[in-house]
Amino acid sequence: MRPKLIVGNWKMNGSRTVNAALLAEIAAGLKGAKASCAVCVPAPYLHQVEELLKGSSIAWGAQDVSAYEGGAYTGEVCAKMLGDFGCRYVIVGHSERRAYHGESSELVARKAMAVLKEGMSPIVCVGETLAQREAGQTVEVVGAQLGAVLELLPADAVEKIVVAYEPVWAIGTGKNATPAMAQEVHAALRGQLRSRNAEAAEGVAILYGGSMKPENARELLGQPDIDGGLIGGAALKAQDFLAIIHATQ
Ligand code: 13P
Repeated sequence: MRPKLIVGNWKMNGSRTVNAALLAEIAAGLKGAKASCAVCVPAPYLHQVEELLKGSSIAWGAQDVSAYEGGAYTGEVCAKMLGDFGCRYVIVGHSERRAYHGESSELVARKAMAVLKEGMSPIVCVGETLAQREAGQTVEVVGAQLGAVLELLPADAVEKIVVAYEPVWAIGTGKNATPAMAQEVHAALRGQLRSRNAEAAEGVAILYGGSMKPENARELLGQPDIDGGLIGGAALKAQDFLAIIHATQ
């Protein structure tokens, strides 16, 4: 059985004071947890979070990265810098970046490669809009999004990526995909990974994201191809985040 992974995506939330309190409460409640966990925090807080979490069982990461290696790209943060702060994971292609920052699947793929080159794992987000789901295009849409990454990805690097299925209509709306709906898409994504590297595909964590909360986590995480969660709102409340982590047992 694949180990479960629960990742908090803090999005553009937090402050030095709030972060310290949140992480202390999470750390205090982790005893006995079977799942691995991580938090992806705003870049300015990476140093603080590294100081607070190093030596703990909680990993940390970033929410975006530049596709460029460094140099004259004002405002950008490159993968090497994220590695310098001990990041294990970097989210790429979150739907909020695709929607509000015009990121294409090709750009997302280049970002994923930049992350891998520095020895970290990209969490590649894919997901359909409500209109696309209603038009029956879900598997086609997420397949094209993942396909762009698999095109650039060497077959021996498949095992290093994490995939997150996040239906856009479920993010921050309180409406989650049903376990059966999510499982169907996760199975399709795993099939696509298999076609790139059959053996590695069995070990790739495919996370579900979109209004995952303590009330629905156990059933979602019980599906055979749902290997964890990428949690937004509930990751900002220590007790909710912990309840999801403990729901994996
Ligand atoms: P919510 O859990 O707030 O729906 O957000 C999910 C998400 O976008 C995680 O990346």
